[in-house]
Amino acid sequence: MNYSDIHTAIREWYATNGRHDLPWRNTDDPYIIYISEMMLQQTQVKTVLDRHFHPFLKRFPTLRHIKEAKLDDVLHAWQGLGYYRRARYIYATAQIAAPKLPTDPAELVKLPGIGKSTAHAIAAFSSHRPVAVLDANVKRILCRFFAKKSAAPKALWEMAEVLLDRKEPYIYNQAMMDIGSTVCTPKSPSCHLCPLQSGCMGQSDPIRFPQKRVKKPRPVRYRKLACVRNETGLLMRQRKGELLGGLWELPELDEMETTAEKIGEVTHEYSHFKLVAELYESNNRNLPGTLVTYENLTTIPTSSLEKKIFEKLKLL
Ligand code: ADE
Repeated sequence: MNYSDIHTAIREWYATNGRHDLPWRNTDDPYIIYISEMMLQQTQVKTVLDRHFHPFLKRFPTLRHIKEAKLDDVLHAWQGLGYYRRARYIYATAQIAAPKLPTDPAELVKLPGIGKSTAHAIAAFSSHRPVAVLDANVKRILCRFFAKKSAAPKALWEMAEVLLDRKEPYIYNQAMMDIGSTVCTPKSPSCHLCPLQSGCMGQSDPIRFPQKRVKKPRPVRYRKLACVRNETGLLMRQRKGELLGGLWELPELDEMETTAEKIGEVTHEYSHFKLVAELYESNNRNLPGTLVTYENLTTIPTSSLEKKIFEKLKLL
């Protein structure tokens, strides 16, 4: 099948409707594009743009700045974006690739935390290589275009590569993301405005493609946390391991400490579970951790849960 008419329509659509002012679209620096892609993996464009993209790049203007920083500083600059594993991947990537990120997708995918789609986005956006980008928006367009209720990753990549505009991969890939977020939306797509309409096999009933999966409610986990504090500070410890590693948190309450009084509860939604943190006033100075002064609570890297706890305890 020849998609050249659709490619032309996509290019024309992008010229008038594309979000040309996004700052990561006005650069060919692979580092800047990489940071934007990592942020945009789990965070919306508006949030990235309003609160995170510019301050992060001001603090770390190049990959070399990340390499020479401490992991804690990178985690601190990532605060509020959540999914901190991304920040640790950026740090690990800088240790290997600084001063310069490659732009060849085969080299990019060897770096920690860079999957095929991110590698293709960096390659397509920094050096206009003819590779397809496959984010959630593009997946939805492809399922509708080819009328697929579901598709495994291999089939999605095949569809992405069949439809790719190899002459103008930069425009095509940016346009597909914009079409996915403004035209081919999940609940009320505007097919009459869509440049892919002439070939779209799902347009008579687009909501059927892809079929919605019924989401299971997230399991609830409970943790008892100890608030050990005095006039100057609060006992905190630094997490180790994959999940939120490097961030500071309250220590767990020692279950043998039966006299600690419950003073409140804070909940937080993670991707795979909901956490209910029960807060107990404790004076058990034998718990693991360091007394962090109240002023320093804003300078150490902490997760959104800790911020809620600090607010609850009226410490911020
Ligand atoms: N999401 C991921 N990459 C993006 C980009 N380049 N523009 C807009 N949204 C995106």
